[in-house]
Amino acid sequence: MDFIIHRHKSTTSTNDLAIRMAEEGAPEGTVVIAGEQTAGRGRHGRSWISPPGSGLYLTLILRPVKPFNELWQIAFVASLAAAEAVQRVSGLQARIKWPNDVMLNDRKVGGLLVEAGAHAEDSVVPVVVGIGINVNTSRFPREIAERATSIALELGRPVPLQDIERELLDAIDARYAGYLREGFPAVLSAWKGFDCTVGRRVSVHSSEGDVEGVAVEVSSEGNLVAEREDGVRVGITAGEIILGD
Ligand code: BTN
Repeated sequence: MDFIIHRHKSTTSTNDLAIRMAEEGAPEGTVVIAGEQTAGRGRHGRSWISPPGSGLYLTLILRPVKPFNELWQIAFVASLAAAEAVQRVSGLQARIKWPNDVMLNDRKVGGLLVEAGAHAEDSVVPVVVGIGINVNTSRFPREIAERATSIALELGRPVPLQDIERELLDAIDARYAGYLREGFPAVLSAWKGFDCTVGRRVSVHSSEGDVEGVAVEVSSEGNLVAEREDGVRVGITAGEIILGD
């Protein structure tokens, strides 16, 4: 893919900028990178703290020729690529917590906010893939301090932002091409190699309600299957999970 990179010293949110650019017809491969975000957005309506110098704040526009009901697969493609990039840059084992949190040593080092355009019959819907990676962050707000980390905190030394940017774009390029060529099963199987969710106790606050159990599988539809204490298996399509042992 030919990346067309738009760099901003500061912006509100690279996703917001990219959504606007996609609506105006920006091609696949358009990348927005900001040195800082003043209104960075996370999943579930949260904010993503994005001070200058500490993180990679990047959004990529894709225009996959895929049915609308398969676009969720892009988050798996991109989280796989993000985990690979973090692993290559740090030399540490990266993991993915379902659905798409990138983890180092059981703490969140990166997150994805994937947003699709409006569903229009017979047209290719743009998908905006926002990726935030904590690269050189040295402190986190108290509410997330126990669950968050950065590559630098885990490594004990700073990492050049351009290193993670290059590895991330390389990995996305390779994984997205593989996805278009071979389909989703190959992506999911590589993704499972990074998964740290299955086999663990999970408690889930999801749109389907609260579930406590053991994660037993990520299905071919990308759902997390958890087995409750009473033996009933529940499929979870979206939500925030808390990992136990
Ligand atoms: C999450 O909650 O885990 C997702 C975080 C996504 C943050 C990235 S930073 C670049 C892009 N722009 C945003 O406003 N959010 C995403």
